Amino acid sequence: MAIHFENIKEHIGSRVSWDDRSDLFAPEAAKAIREKVAERTVLVFPELNLTDEEQLAITNAIGPKMRLTNTTNVQSNDEDVYQVTLDEKINPQPEYVLGTFFWHMDGITVDMPPPFATLLSCRIAPDKGGETEFASTYAAYAGLPEDEKQALEGLKAVHSVRASLSPIADAIPEKHRERVLGIGLVKEHPLVWTHDDGRKSMVIGTTADHIVGMDIPAGRAMLMRLQEWAAQPAYSLRHKWKKGDFVIWDNTGAMHRAIPYDKSTGRMMHRTSIAGAEAVAA
Ligand code: OGA
Ligand code: MN
Repeated sequence: MAIHFENIKEHIGSRVSWDDRSDLFAPEAAKAIREKVAERTVLVFPELNLTDEEQLAITNAIGPKMRLTNTTNVQSNDEDVYQVTLDEKINPQPEYVLGTFFWHMDGITVDMPPPFATLLSCRIAPDKGGETEFASTYAAYAGLPEDEKQALEGLKAVHSVRASLSPIADAIPEKHRERVLGIGLVKEHPLVWTHDDGRKSMVIGTTADHIVGMDIPAGRAMLMRLQEWAAQPAYSLRHKWKKGDFVIWDNTGAMHRAIPYDKSTGRMMHRTSIAGAEAVAA
């Protein structure tokens, strides 16, 4: 088996290459890939052109896979593969895809540990917009001045689906708005996540509504500043998709967002998720 990893930026990202495509499916590959995801946050497999079956196999080998969204897309081949698209013939609920235009982490408001990783295969690359950006909240936390790290100690944020959809709320047709926003998932998480291995990341992004025990404006301003801090070029990466590209990222130590794209581009991503191994802990 020969898989090679080459750093993209100092603090984030590795580009993966392989001698033989089958090397990626060898039993020892899953462990090597999982370790690299945890170490480098984002792995890019250029033009790998996975089928859904292959994507599910890789997801489960690193895995286990989990189903993040209950929305069953009309044309999905497998219920564990979610089609990320603005085409309402395939995805009748575009709100959740429009919500991806804003920095977020996946599965932060559901009642289980946040997914360890999200995996996307590009089926149709847009010619304009539609890049995906990633920001390492491990690197961002490590880079904070000591006094700011201390100021975050013990703080908790309230996360909700409503907060994550607030940037697009006005664009939801009025007759659906309350139903979509009222999904009601709310969860409290420590702002700083101390992982089992001792590393620390931040749990931030648009789901974070306010900070427990802090005045709402001050808490929101703090959350926004942390988002901006993590998104600075040193800690973040933008991927311009080519058809067939496959990307895996550590959802427990990164925020991500899509650069806006138009439905007319036909952009289509196939998404799978790997279950989280640990709950968010202070
Ligand atoms: C997602 C997501 C980003 C993208 O599917 O959870 O955030 O670039 N996707 O499509
Ligand atoms: Mn997402």
